[in-house]
Amino acid sequence: MSKADLSDLSADEWDEVRFPRSKVQEFDRVVERAISRRSFLGGTLAFGSGAAVMGTAFLKGSPVAAQQTSRFAFEQLAPQTDGTVHVPNGYSWDVLVRWGDPLFPDAPAFDPETGIPTEGSDRVFGENTDGMELFHQGGTELLVVNSEYPNPKINLPASQDGEASSADDVLRLQNFQGVNVMEVVEGADGWSVVVDSAYNRRIHHNTPMVIDGPAAGHDLLKTAADETGTQSLGTFNNCGSGRTPWGTYLTCEENFNGYFGTTQEVLGDEAVMQGYRRYGVSTDIDAGRYNYHGFDARFDISQNPNEPHRAGYIVEIDPWDPEATPVKHTALGRFKHENAAYALTPEGRVVVYMGDDERGEFMYKWVSTGIYVAGGDTSTLLSDGQLFVARFDDDMTGQWVALTPEATGMEPAEISIFTRMAASAVGATTMDRPEWIAVNPTAVEAYCCLTNNRNRGAKEDGGVVKTNAGGDPMEVNAVNPREINNYGQIVRWRPHEDDHGAESFDWDLYVMAGNPEVHGDDLYAGTANINAGNLFNSPDGMQIDTAGLIWIQTDGDDSNEGDFAGMGNNQMLAGDPATGEIRRFLTGPNGCEVTGLTWSADRRTMFVGIQHPGQPFPDGEGSLPRSAIVTVTRDDNALVG
Ligand code: FEO
Ligand code: CA
Ligand code: CA
Repeated sequence: MSKADLSDLSADEWDEVRFPRSKVQEFDRVVERAISRRSFLGGTLAFGSGAAVMGTAFLKGSPVAAQQTSRFAFEQLAPQTDGTVHVPNGYSWDVLVRWGDPLFPDAPAFDPETGIPTEGSDRVFGENTDGMELFHQGGTELLVVNSEYPNPKINLPASQDGEASSADDVLRLQNFQGVNVMEVVEGADGWSVVVDSAYNRRIHHNTPMVIDGPAAGHDLLKTAADETGTQSLGTFNNCGSGRTPWGTYLTCEENFNGYFGTTQEVLGDEAVMQGYRRYGVSTDIDAGRYNYHGFDARFDISQNPNEPHRAGYIVEIDPWDPEATPVKHTALGRFKHENAAYALTPEGRVVVYMGDDERGEFMYKWVSTGIYVAGGDTSTLLSDGQLFVARFDDDMTGQWVALTPEATGMEPAEISIFTRMAASAVGATTMDRPEWIAVNPTAVEAYCCLTNNRNRGAKEDGGVVKTNAGGDPMEVNAVNPREINNYGQIVRWRPHEDDHGAESFDWDLYVMAGNPEVHGDDLYAGTANINAGNLFNSPDGMQIDTAGLIWIQTDGDDSNEGDFAGMGNNQMLAGDPATGEIRRFLTGPNGCEVTGLTWSADRRTMFVGIQHPGQPFPDGEGSLPRSAIVTVTRDDNALVG
């Protein structure tokens, strides 16, 4: 570094250059804390400006006092291993809607053995319920829900091994996925879907959309069907959800690569081929996961090489206008989007936090150029802004690194389309599969579930540490401290200056899941807030309610054996941010993932998603297993969030 360069440094940076902190020592300290299973939370209150940003809800008592008075209104549920849903004493659950239930009066009837025919398959509630949000105005409540991916063996019961074997099969699968908009109402017998509501809508793999932002119109988005690169058909692998302050729904395109395949050798230019490799689009002949490419040329990359570039975005949907065209926002980057959690900066810029769920991929933040004004024009707020990627340093601070042309060597449109490469170029921290991010409405902080990563710290033959698909190593570090991380952790960060727009933050681990019953006192036992009573693995879905309680949903190993003994089926737990206490609240049927959570307008009902049950849930023997949304209420009709 030249003298001129040194003169530009701040005092802290200058110190750092002359007296570099030993990252090994800092890292060792973090790991030691985890191993000793002393609470991270004691450290949390002490570090940085942590105490100042804890929020009013948690300043009423000391952490010790808070621990003595649990904020949970329920007794912990024991782990379960059966084929149904369980909730604590004093609560009840019911089925709201399941795959194949009608959303329109002319929908076909569900047959317990054969499911739903292709004709009318876009008139029923879709498969594999995932992220959801509830919107309300004037007494009307709309539940907007993702249908993430198909279960071909169940959705096409007559097929051979669940393989789509005709254009008709492919169309049926395409119709079962996407987004469901449905009016819901509470009556004397509980909640139900208003089947003849004018708001009901199915958005699927062939629904017209528009593309906006820096990549709109770029050559990489042009196809034979759309030579402008500004239109698109369908939204894919809709995983987590988000919402905007102006009342629109955000659906997040995750594992879009699986829908593409090829019928012949692919001869694309190097940039395109590199993109396929980084995003996992297979160029092996007939390797497409759902066999779309065999019957729908749009998904055959030898014929339509740019089609995969039109998926992997955040898509905005106006739930109140069934005619509104969904918008794919390329400004928010293209990767395997888990969910989209918004915050506002003090001056009113929109911040969207997003995870890229793949082993060793990254966490992102986007900040709008425009200011949100209630009642003002919001039509372009998500079209122009700055994308950042997270770097977590081992001293428990971090930086949001701007993905600019200067920093990445890429044009704005390329940053939007090949976001993973842009993030690799600036040295982002490889993460243990970022799933849902949740912003705490009662404190200036946010959380991300890092679900697990079997490759963290693992070595290739020859001793080189494994990398993500871009060649970035997945060495053990402070925020991803476990080699072969089979349990997962939740990272929390507090932006500096109490501003979600700030480019620096402090972080800690809210919890490392683990199993102290199996592992005693080592790193795999988990943090101090894990005990024999609340065991779980693979945190995934997450929401924070209006009181600031964290609701954690799991998508992990439900064998209940070995490392996972005592954990039972996948589940939903509640966490107290101040004390760290975590308590199991709900368990799903064996084989399922619990994912998707929102609340009724009066906060007296929770809507919880049960995805891909391994049993004939909820209808019992003789019926196909059906993903479902269940309602959870308190028997005394008190608030549940
Ligand atoms: Fe669709 Fe990463 O979960
Ligand atoms: Ca998930
Ligand atoms: Ca998952």
